[in-house]
Amino acid sequence: MHILAIDQGTSGTKAVVTDEAGRVLATVEEPVHPVYLEGGGVEVDPRALLESVLSTGRRAAAEAGVPLSAVALANQGETVLAWNRRTGEPLGPAIVWQDRRAEAICAARSASSGRVTELTGLILDPYFSAPKMRWLRDHRTGEGVVTTTDTWLVHQLCGAFVTDVSTASRSLLLDLGTVTWNGELLDLFGLGGEELPALVASDDIVGTTSAFGGEVPVTGLIVDQQAALLAENCLDAGTAKCTYGTGAFLLAQLGATAARSDNGLATSVAWRLRGSTRYCVDGQVYTAASAVRWLVDLGLIESAAELDSVSSADAGGVLCVPALAGLAAPWWDSSATASLSGMTLSTGRGHLVRSVLDGIAAQVTALIAALGTPLTRLRVDGGLTRSRVLMQAQADLAQLPVDVYPSPHATALGAAACARLALDPTVPIADVVGGWSPAATYEPVWSTDQAAHHLERWHTAVRATLKESV
Ligand code: G3P
Repeated sequence: MHILAIDQGTSGTKAVVTDEAGRVLATVEEPVHPVYLEGGGVEVDPRALLESVLSTGRRAAAEAGVPLSAVALANQGETVLAWNRRTGEPLGPAIVWQDRRAEAICAARSASSGRVTELTGLILDPYFSAPKMRWLRDHRTGEGVVTTTDTWLVHQLCGAFVTDVSTASRSLLLDLGTVTWNGELLDLFGLGGEELPALVASDDIVGTTSAFGGEVPVTGLIVDQQAALLAENCLDAGTAKCTYGTGAFLLAQLGATAARSDNGLATSVAWRLRGSTRYCVDGQVYTAASAVRWLVDLGLIESAAELDSVSSADAGGVLCVPALAGLAAPWWDSSATASLSGMTLSTGRGHLVRSVLDGIAAQVTALIAALGTPLTRLRVDGGLTRSRVLMQAQADLAQLPVDVYPSPHATALGAAACARLALDPTVPIADVVGGWSPAATYEPVWSTDQAAHHLERWHTAVRATLKESV
């Protein structure tokens, strides 16, 4: 059984071909280029997303040189576009999850924020899909359908009009208890008249495609962060992972109960597989690799590969709050801005680079604390886990051993696992993910007091960036 699993992410698309045992036979990656606009806008050309899906998928299939059994897709969660349902043509750029222009749409509905969280498990924030869908309707077009990018890409591949329940649970339109679209929420966002995609499970086969060679089923549809949670074998309640991609996303498995966070984290569907729904709680650092890209744009480093060689042994007293696209959980202040503080004439670029890495690690640590239940270890994946400095800072600040997932393709492997479940209805979930040994483990070397002191200073810096403090 050979699965072509495509991870369509914010900054790139990766296609991976796996064999019966889930081993990687081929992998091809291409960048995509979101455009960062004044005023917090982040857009991407949907055609470029589709081209990257087709091109990476075809190249990976050719490289693997095996007949494919299915195509799976992991998608960036809350990126939306308007498109013509008849022709499939996009009606303008996609609005990326980092886009903050729907702030006013959320502010106008703030009286309903408690009810929104009760129904959806999420927070009324422009990060999620529905405020962006409303923004598209208000500012771009009343034509066509507005959906997340997965629905459009899958439609391009096989003509289906679907979204999987994990992606739908990131929309602010899904009742988390019944796992159905909710009329009250649709009305709240003025989206009651919209044509909505059918909700599917991650092991449902939604159609067939010949886009990558012979005609094969399309299945294994799942939102990217949840796909990584699955790949990292976070099946038991209380297990958690953090993926350091464009943003950094901490997810903890909740099991069959959609428990709400007391500390401002979001609850959503982890996946629906084998007829059962599992839930997870998540917290977000909006800018992780995005903050590193910003360092590159400023000329402080050539590329992410230079992070560790340029970074100083410590930040020399500099503190960074990497809120370059606002702050998510547990603060939920989309208008918060990034800060660098504590600089002196002796501050050099190594201190600045180090402070950004420390800032990302501190923010993930705040999310771990917000889980409420202490973790014993943290599983991690994503491109920035290659930075030993970041991983050591994470272990030091969180005071936890950090286990690095052995494959750089966790998200694609999670989608591939869903497709294997679809193709073989007898195989248990645990068998398609299996156990793994970390490629590296980082143990804390800082004392508890050192970590607590650093975090106290960092939280003071965060408070200074929050809108209520201005
Ligand atoms: O919620 C946004 C997330 O799905 C994007 O993930 O991998 O593109 O940073 P990534």
